[in-house]
Order: sequence, then structure tokens, then C-alpha cells
Amino acid sequence: MSVRVLMFGTTGQVAREVIRQATGHDVVLTALSRAEADLSDPETCARRVAEHRPDLVILAAAYTAVDLAETEGVMARRVNAEAPGAIARACASAGAALVHFSTDFVFDGSKGAPYLADDATNPLNAYGETKLEGERKVLDACPRAVVIRTSWVVSAHGKNFVKTMLRLAAGGQPLKVVDDQLGRPTSAADLAGFVLSQARRFVDAPCGDPAFGMHHFANGGDITSWRGFAQAIFAQALGDRAPEVGATTTADWPSPAVRPLYSALDTSATEAVFGVRIRPWREAVTEIVAELQSQPEATPA
Ligand SMILES: NC(=O)c1ccc[n+]([C@@H]2O[C@H](COP(=O)([O-])OP(=O)(O)OC[C@H]3O[C@@H](n4cnc5c(N)ncnc54)[C@H](OP(=O)(O)O)[C@@H]3O)[C@@H](O)[C@H]2O)c1
Repeated sequence: MSVRVLMFGTTGQVAREVIRQATGHDVVLTALSRAEADLSDPETCARRVAEHRPDLVILAAAYTAVDLAETEGVMARRVNAEAPGAIARACASAGAALVHFSTDFVFDGSKGAPYLADDATNPLNAYGETKLEGERKVLDACPRAVVIRTSWVVSAHGKNFVKTMLRLAAGGQPLKVVDDQLGRPTSAADLAGFVLSQARRFVDAPCGDPAFGMHHFANGGDITSWRGFAQAIFAQALGDRAPEVGATTTADWPSPAVRPLYSALDTSATEAVFGVRIRPWREAVTEIVAELQSQPEATPA
């Protein structure tokens, strides 16, 4: 029998990729929009789980406005911590497995080497604090939950760095991009494909299975800066016409939220547990740029 999946989120990068790829997997997907399940109302979201009685819940919506979270802390916490906690309790009661997403921003960047799932956390900003609280609430409430931390998510949809860079390059202005924040991009399509490919395992696995608990998913390959990422995007999209990308620093580009200077995630344990190989980010970016170029109307961020 197909896996009955209930997803919170329809418009985000990861949610859109889950919807797009679901037909290629043995799942029956119901995706709830913000109007159907607003995460600022955790108890209503929990009721949705009880009503639908799914085999698997994917919590793909979140408060992701990192800078705004500094001044909207109450709302960010409700959406990123209280709602995931309530949904996790509902999953435990309904016997459903739960996939929840978290962020590299739970780390402070001081390690200087790829972060393991059990490395010490120390978020530097309010968004990271609320996501960390959400991780804990989910894992405490639901023994058959997996929290997947990811980083620098990009796709051909929604607001993201690839689309922003291509829009800026089209404007012809000189570009300077931060060169001292290091990490690894993640394709929303690859992350969604991974979750869907493991749906049956999440549903059949008993409590204590290594599929559950904390995992890291980001594309592989070299660790880069935002500037290096921009250069790769331009090389792919514009070839010889790629603009020069100047370097700037985090200190020269102040933002309300402090960001870690290093947030690459070590994915080796996740790859071993699930028997998968996560491809290099440069391959994934090639695909995203090609998709954007085949649908020019989708390019502006
Ligand atoms: N984007 C990244 O670089 C990044 C990095 C690390 C981790 N993550 C994590 O990965 C997961 C997926 O992120 P993403 O990039 O796919 O997100 P995204 O593209 O920023 O989309 C966020 C989604 O959450 C929805 N949402 C926000 N507030 C809501 C509320 N109160 N009720 C219901 N829905 C609400 C938004 O709906 P509307 O369209 O209605 O606003 C949107 O669909 C999140 O858990 C995020 O924290 C993302």
C-alpha cells in the first residue's frame, strides 16, 4: 500500500520539490497550505494530523526570515518551535513518523570543520535559537521522528541565492559578495528526493532505528563561500560573459542577524545509515541554472 503523507507547506522551496516529485514515488501526498494549517496556531496544526491520520508527516514550512526573526522572536518561536512540538506530539499519538527540517544556523561556526549531527550547538541568532528549540521539542515528543539539518537551500523556485545572483547580474551592476562565510549549498530537489525515497523506511522502521534522530543533508563537494557560490552560478549561467565578483566581508555587510562564518555539515553518517551518496553541489547547481534558463519567466527572484 502507498505511504500516506501529510505535508505542512506548499509554497516553500522544499515543499514545492516534494509536490513535484511525489508522483515518482509510492506515496499519496496531501499538502496543506498556510491557509489550511497556519503554524502560528500549533493546536490547529496538531488537529490536522489527527484528522488525516497519515503514515508520515513532512514538516516543510517554517519561519525562514533570518533577519526578521531578530525582531519577530515571538512569532518565529511559535512557528519554528511550538508548532513542530505540537505536530510531533500529534504524530506520536497517531502512530505517524515525522520528518522535520532544521538548519546549519544551530552552530556557531567555531569548529572550522564539517559539523557532525551530535556536535555542540550554539546558535548566534534568533532564527537558529528557535530552530534548535524546535529540534529538541520534536525529538523529545516523537520517537519516530527524524530531524534533517540542511544548509544554503536553493532551487529554481521561491526566493534564494541562485535567483538573486542571476537577477543582480542581469542588472549589470558591479557585484561584491561575502567571501568569509563558508558552507555548502543544498538543492531543494535533492533533499525532497531523498525524503521521498526514504518514505517507506520511515514508516516501517521501529523506534530506535538509526533512520530516526538527527541527520544532516547538504550537497557534497568543496566547501565554498557565498562568493565562490556566486562565481559557480555565473560560470554555469553566463560562461564567458560571467561578471567579475568582488569579495566583501561579513563585517562590511552588516545584517540584523549574526551568521556563523563556517557552517558546512558532515553528511557521512546520514549517507551510511540510508545507503545513499549525496552528489556535489556544483552538479546540482548546473541543473538548477539549466531549469531557470529553460523557463526564463521563473528567473526573477
Ligand atoms: N532556505 C534555506 O537556506 C534553509 C537553510 C537551512 C535550513 N532550512 C530549513 O529547511 C526547511 C525548508 O525551507 P525552505 O527553504 O523550503 O523554506 P522557504 O522556501 O523559505 O519557505 C518557507 C515556507 O514556510 C511557509 N510558512 C512560513 N510561515 C508559516 C506559517 N505561519 N504557517 C504556515 N506556513 C508558513 C511559507 O509559506 P508562505 O509562502 O505562505 O509564506 C513557505 O511556504 C525549513 O525548516 C528551513 O528552516 C532552510
